Amino acid sequence: MSRRRIRLWVMICFCQVMVIAAVTDPNDVAVLTALKSGWQNLPPDWKGSDPCGSRWEGINCTESRVTTLVLAGMGVKTMDIGDIPSLSMLQYLDLSNNKEIKAILPPSIEKLKNLTTLILVGCSFRGPIPDSIGSLKKLVFLGLNNNSFTGPIPRSIGSLTNLSWLDLSDNQLSGLIPISNETAPGLDNLVKTKHFHLADNQLSGPIPSQLFNSSMSLIHFIVNNNQLSGRIPPLIGSVQTLEVVRLDSNSLTGKVPQELTSLKSVSELYLSNNILNGPVPDLSEMSSLSYVDMSNNSFNNSDIPAWFTLLSLTSVLMEMTQLQGEIPSDIFRPQLERLMLSNNDLNGTLDVGSSYNGDLIVDLTNNSITSFKQNSGYNLSLNLENNPICEGGATGRYCAAGKPNPPTGLPSNNCPPVRCGSNKVLSPNCKCTSPYTGTIFFFSHSFSNLDNLTYYTTLRDTLLSAFRSNQLPVDSISISNPTLSEYLQYKLHIFPSGQDYFTRSAVSSIGTVINRQLFSLPYYGPSFFLDDSYCCFPGKKSSNRGIIIGTAVGGSVILLLIASAITYAVYKKRQAKKAKENNPFASWQLNSNDAGDAPQLKGTRWCSFEELKRATNRFSEENIIGSGGYGKVYKGTLDSGLVFAIKRAEQGSLQGAQEFKTEIELLSRIHHKNVVSLFGFCYEQGEQMLVYEYISNGTLKDNLSAGMTGMKLNWMKRLKVALDSANGVAYLHELANPPIIHRDLKSTNILLDQHLNAKVADFGLSKLLGDESKGYVSTQVKGTLGYMDPEYYMTQQLTEKSDVYSFGIVLLELLTARPPIYKGKYIVREVKDAIDKSGDPNGIYTVLDPSLGSFQTLGGLTRFVNLALSCVQDSGADRPRMGEVVREIENIIDLAVLSKDVKSPLSFSSQNTGKVGDMCHPYGDSVSDASSLSMPFETELSR
Ligand SMILES: *[C@@H]1O[C@H](CO)[C@@H](O)[C@H](O)[C@H]1NC(C)=O
Ligand SMILES: *[C@@H]1O[C@H](CO)[C@@H](O)[C@H](O)[C@H]1NC(C)=O
Ligand SMILES: *[C@@H]1O[C@H](CO)[C@@H](O)[C@H](O)[C@H]1NC(C)=O
Ligand SMILES: *[C@@H]1O[C@H](CO)[C@@H](O)[C@H](O)[C@H]1NC(C)=O
Repeated sequence: MSRRRIRLWVMICFCQVMVIAAVTDPNDVAVLTALKSGWQNLPPDWKGSDPCGSRWEGINCTESRVTTLVLAGMGVKTMDIGDIPSLSMLQYLDLSNNKEIKAILPPSIEKLKNLTTLILVGCSFRGPIPDSIGSLKKLVFLGLNNNSFTGPIPRSIGSLTNLSWLDLSDNQLSGLIPISNETAPGLDNLVKTKHFHLADNQLSGPIPSQLFNSSMSLIHFIVNNNQLSGRIPPLIGSVQTLEVVRLDSNSLTGKVPQELTSLKSVSELYLSNNILNGPVPDLSEMSSLSYVDMSNNSFNNSDIPAWFTLLSLTSVLMEMTQLQGEIPSDIFRPQLERLMLSNNDLNGTLDVGSSYNGDLIVDLTNNSITSFKQNSGYNLSLNLENNPICEGGATGRYCAAGKPNPPTGLPSNNCPPVRCGSNKVLSPNCKCTSPYTGTIFFFSHSFSNLDNLTYYTTLRDTLLSAFRSNQLPVDSISISNPTLSEYLQYKLHIFPSGQDYFTRSAVSSIGTVINRQLFSLPYYGPSFFLDDSYCCFPGKKSSNRGIIIGTAVGGSVILLLIASAITYAVYKKRQAKKAKENNPFASWQLNSNDAGDAPQLKGTRWCSFEELKRATNRFSEENIIGSGGYGKVYKGTLDSGLVFAIKRAEQGSLQGAQEFKTEIELLSRIHHKNVVSLFGFCYEQGEQMLVYEYISNGTLKDNLSAGMTGMKLNWMKRLKVALDSANGVAYLHELANPPIIHRDLKSTNILLDQHLNAKVADFGLSKLLGDESKGYVSTQVKGTLGYMDPEYYMTQQLTEKSDVYSFGIVLLELLTARPPIYKGKYIVREVKDAIDKSGDPNGIYTVLDPSLGSFQTLGGLTRFVNLALSCVQDSGADRPRMGEVVREIENIIDLAVLSKDVKSPLSFSSQNTGKVGDMCHPYGDSVSDASSLSMPFETELSR
């Protein structure tokens, strides 16, 4: 071998090593690629097949494995979390602030054995927290707060021995606080945990005494706003580390134990709104106490206790607590910021001395105070309404104090007056940029003076330095609307630097810095951040098109890809084998000999017959919401409380196991906001059932006739329905893999949700478009009279264009609100006739749905009619493809918006060529998008 050749070899090998380093693990690629097709609004830069190498937004990798997935605040929409549990090396997962994530947390989450951080703050997760969460042994941070989780707190959380942060607050969790029993550890086992945040749920029963022990490191015990009852366990006093104790708004009874009030580190104590009794607790040993709220309890009558003079106290709230006698003047020290003692029986003379704080707020309404020493020349916010001193026409300021002026937060800027463009705000540094905004909530705080700027500047500077040390491009922060209710909350405006707006990853990282509490902040307790969805992501309209492999990719890379694909296939097969051992599909084969391996499902659940029977109240009549040749559809409420539509095949229409499997495998891959998605299936006891998401507002047909829901579909709404359903069908044709022909599109298969978003339903008759069939499938003719493509009927050759024909009929229904065959007349003939009687262009109006109102106001009507007619051309080749239909409807919507009250010129032709572009140009509707029409559709590439 010549020297040169050796060099060449070395180079090739070197290159391959490099490539291997950049190629993401195929399993992780598969998971993320599936997310891309199932979730909406993922970052548009999720392109190609190498998430690690090409640094997809929100993803970080170590050695070709995905270890971090942060998609906070990106507006992600999904009903399931996909196959995320298969990202087996994942360590950090943050999906916070995506209100449209309405998923359950599946038991398979246990597969994330390397997870240390799970943050799902402010999404719409629902259903129970799975027991299997106890298998995530490496978890350090678990933030599930502000969701809709139901059911009990799993005891298994007690096995997460490295957990430092546990926040389950603001959910609908119920049941007892779980503690260890003979078989399993409970929350008392979490001796490294510093935060128990369980507030704002429906937890009941007592606060278990066993929860507390002296080996704990707990600093924040926050269980306010539940239904906890019984006494406060004295053992809480053994947790010397406690700093914040929030037991307020429960049904706690009995005396406040002296053990609690001897905790030296507690600085914030909330016991208000309970039924506590006995003497007013003596807090004089609590030398760190700064904020105490014991309002609205049933303590014995008492004078102002001596501990009111504790030096550390900034805030004392004891409204409605049977306090009596005179208020000693020595409690008015400079540190005191807020004294709330309304609805007591305090009497005599009020003397605030001379060393009170100028920002002090004192509320003494509804007491018995008769005089005020500093009658004039006082400088605090004082309210004495409903005291004897204010009776009989007294005129002191304190008698008409009302509420003190609301605090304003940090002055937002000192800039010369400038008007910024839309979505832009003047930053504290006088630049017009698009801030990321939201509200930060604090579970507790040691102060009350919201006029003292120190508290705002401290927060601002702490956040800024946390952002900067994480290399986030933040220019400045403004803080406004301070509000004190259950929690202290501020509005935050976070301004970008370098650019006018934030990228997705910047927004995401800002969210995660706050919600992961990557900073330490004096004066404030723990917090959470709920954002306003960000206005201004670059390239906001995300495309989720197929993978395009560039031609520039070298041959060796392709070889490698093939090699890894094979490895992947082998791996998947092994995985499937393994999965069979511990999963419900294992029973699959018992049912039938020809069923083969368990179905390969993406996020679709197996449901037991018993569960579905319960869900539908034994398939009772009143739960039937539809029926057809295959059987009946029931509305059902699963054990999780969620509502579904359950399609139950009748005896005559049961499929073979193999076909049923193929069908659920197919359906489980279909994820699009305009296509009804499959949640689960049942294959048991000779039953075949499909469990779909439940769409609440009925069919398009119902809504067009009578307006079943009372919601009239006006022109704009009909255009939106047309667009949604066209999008759904276009997805099936052009993006689903393999592509799917619906075969039974009709107005009863288009469902509307509560916001009148349309979703295409029922693929009972769907056929896959396999490669071998080269675009058409010859098969038995099926479909519904009136919607069926005549060409298909005659040739028996099914193509996507048959769906286009049926869709054209649906468009005509939207125009006329008539069924396709009505009083013996066919809708296509009628509309054409109406127009053909040309010379009288008003003809079309004779068949328009009268409830659409005056046709002059129907912007884009001309083009809509033309589009419908082009879809029902006799020859499939002359009909537009669904992607083109989508584009044209988008154009029509633009027109309708623009020309709301401009009368559109009338001109129709039933001699359409079927080319959308052709038919649009001769006519007057002014906004046309010729360039986009002549462009090849991106989707072509993905074939
Ligand atoms: C828990 O944390 C300790 C110290 O950081 C670490 O050594 C240990 O491996 C962790 N345990 C688990 C199960 O991750
Ligand atoms: C104030 O109330 C206390 C206890 O209710 C009573 O003993 C005292 O006489 C009252 N003082 C005045 C000035 O009314
Ligand atoms: C009261 O306080 C305000 C600001 O806190 C100050 O501007 C004002 O001069 C003070 N008035 C008196 C009488 O102390
Ligand atoms: C504002 O708060 C800080 C921190 O608690 C304190 O040191 C300072 O004295 C306060 N200023 C006023 C005017 O109360």
